[in-house]
Amino acid sequence: MTLIVMGIESSCDETSVAIMRDDILISNVTATQEVHASYGGVVPELASRAHAQNIIPVIHTSLKYANLQKKDVNVVAFTLGPGLVGSLMVGISFAKSFAQALNIPIVAVDHLYAHIFASFIQFPDDKHPVPEFPFLCLTVSGGHTQLLKVSDYDDIEIIGETIDDAAGEAFDKAAKILGLPYPGGPMIDKLAKSGDPHYFHFTKPKVPDFQFSFSGLKTSLLYLVRDNLKKDPDFIEKYKEHLAASYQRTIVEILVEKTLKAAKQYGFKNIVLAGGVSANSELRQTFINSGKQLGYKTFIPPINLTTDNGAMIAYLGKILYERGITSPLNVKQYATGERR
Ligand code: KG4
Ligand code: ZN
Repeated sequence: MTLIVMGIESSCDETSVAIMRDDILISNVTATQEVHASYGGVVPELASRAHAQNIIPVIHTSLKYANLQKKDVNVVAFTLGPGLVGSLMVGISFAKSFAQALNIPIVAVDHLYAHIFASFIQFPDDKHPVPEFPFLCLTVSGGHTQLLKVSDYDDIEIIGETIDDAAGEAFDKAAKILGLPYPGGPMIDKLAKSGDPHYFHFTKPKVPDFQFSFSGLKTSLLYLVRDNLKKDPDFIEKYKEHLAASYQRTIVEILVEKTLKAAKQYGFKNIVLAGGVSANSELRQTFINSGKQLGYKTFIPPINLTTDNGAMIAYLGKILYERGITSPLNVKQYATGERR
């Protein structure tokens, strides 16, 4: 019998609803919230309001795209956390009432775990290989930077993580310094393409083992820009491409160096890249090239499944459901920084 799983993601600033038919993703519809662009970051109350407005239309569009009706859905998976409470609540409340009305089970999914498996998702016309367990995963998103030992879908161990800002945050804060709108990652990525990555030098942080730190890097950029603006008010305008390229190169080098060091030390053969920052063109390229050079198998999600999406929630929800895991109706969200 066919299994139809709906996945709902609403932890931050994307309202996204996906549908899987058995192992294949047949629909993934995302409403991105433009409202935060001028604020330099996500404004929680505005995010909750936008989710409340978007959720029903996105559900309808996703079902329509899949050529299905509400009654065809067998399981509803949704993001339980971590994220913004008001945003999470919109998706969770919808999922619970939808499931109750249809008398179908719900499966609560962890957002960070879901990111890890984005590169496993199969499309109708594109069946591709997936990594074998255990593998090393570098998750780089707006809120997290983690190196993980992934032994199974629910057996995940943190090898190292950031002690301050996340990689995505480092991109977003740099963009703010350069006067670019939120989210900064895609803007820096674009500017960097026409800049010299060795024009400016940023010192890499000295943090032990597999920890990361990005706040010093951001401060170096801030001081560099501030000092130069005193001498030349057009400094940013004249050098923004070089600034973006040099800053991006430094982040990519830090991420890839640590990942390869962990792969070597722990003896992993397969390395997976995940999270919003895995959309970064230089990171993707460097990750694949250095993996190839050193004999690792590397896996990166397709661009549309790098940033937050319902597909990764549907995928992991389906796996958990098939393992007999469902959630009670009183299951409760957890915010960023709270224990799951
Ligand atoms: O995974 P995600 O969508 O949301 C969280 O779970 O946090 O990640 C969003 C982050 C933002 O910080 C955004 O600037 C960054 O991913 N990002 C990028 C790129 N696209 C998105 N960073 C660098 N280069 C990109 N092309
Ligand atoms: Zn995310």
